[in-house]
This record gives sequence, C-alpha cells and structure tokens, in this order.
Amino acid sequence: MSKRVAILISGGGSNMVRLVKEMQAGDWAVPVLVASNDPDAGGLKKAADMGVPTAAVDHKPFGKDRAAFEAALLDHIEAAKPDILCLAGFMRILTPEFTRRFEGRMLNIHPSLLPKYKGLHTHARAIEAGDAQAGCTVHLVTAELDDGPILGQARVPVLPDDTPNTLAARVLVEEHRLYPKVLEAFAKGESHSRTG
Ligand code: GRF
Repeated sequence: MSKRVAILISGGGSNMVRLVKEMQAGDWAVPVLVASNDPDAGGLKKAADMGVPTAAVDHKPFGKDRAAFEAALLDHIEAAKPDILCLAGFMRILTPEFTRRFEGRMLNIHPSLLPKYKGLHTHARAIEAGDAQAGCTVHLVTAELDDGPILGQARVPVLPDDTPNTLAARVLVEEHRLYPKVLEAFAKGESHSRTG
C-alpha cells in the first residue's frame, strides 16, 4: 500500500520537486499535498504543474500566535490524510504540539552534517570553522529544533575558495539526491541510519 506524503515548503521547493518526481516515478508513495506558509512561494506553482494539490496559509496575519497558524495549516494537512509529512525548505519553527502530532512520521532536510550547525547560516559557519567537509542531513522531526534521529546524511568537500553560496549549491545537489532516497526507504519501512 503506497504511503500518502504531504510536503511543507516556504520557497522555491527544489527539494519538493525532487521528492514529487521520485514518488511519481515509482509506486511506493503518492504526493497528496504541497502546502506553504507563503502564498507566493514559487514551489506552489511547480507542485500544481506536476498535478499535486496545493494549499497556502500566510503565517504573517497570525503574528506570534504559532498555534493559530498551525491550526489553519492543519486543516489542509489533515484533509489530505498523509501518512508521512516532509519539511522541505520549510522555514517556520513548529510548536511541540505540532511535532508531537506527527512524531515518528515527519522528516526534514537540514543543510549541515547534524548534530553540527543546527539552526541557520550553516554553510557560513562551516566555512568559518575551517571544516574540510559539509553536507546535509535528513532526520525525523522532534520538538527540539534540528535534533531528531538521523535517517541519512551526504557529505561534500569544503573548497578553499568556497563562499556560503558556492557551498550551498554543492550541498543542494546532494540534498536532491539524498532526500528522495531516504524518503523511499522510510516509506517502505526499510529506514535505518545511513550515510549518503
Ligand atoms: C535548502 O538548502 C534546504 O536544505 C533548506 O532550505 C533550502 C531551500 O530548499 N531546508 P528548497 O530549494 O526550497 O527545497
């Protein structure tokens, strides 16, 4: 029985596109919704063009009331009846209540080799630290930011003349390879910690 997958985005959705294409090329999962906290997110049109239902709930009118924003978003998510939730470039911090609701079946991709560099500006921090390697991590989402069990990682070299942008571009290529691979294994119940 193929799994129903909802994807949350905030921007261009390049990771979402890769996930949708891999699901549509196989029989292990169905993309049932792409939702965003930004009605202008470029990924929403990309999803619609691939035939995936979309929804948007602008977080700005809710101000600091995260719970109210999430309740509005949940209406769309629950209507799609997902088995798995994927965060893909989703830039809002989720409340513990939300993460608990999907604990064990919500995945995120983070552009660093966790547990290093949780939070933002991961590439600048890796360069600043003089790291020889950087990369990305797919992990289960828990209440603690960027902290859940790691499902997969992919590594890239940090080059002497790297800027945060050149490193981000190199890591993004690996994100697009890693996330669909990890999601497929997870959807098939074959998940185990892996390095890309
Ligand atoms: C990527 O670097 C991803 O690691 C981070 O958001 C960035 C943009 O992702 N979570 P996308 O192009 O919107 O998928």
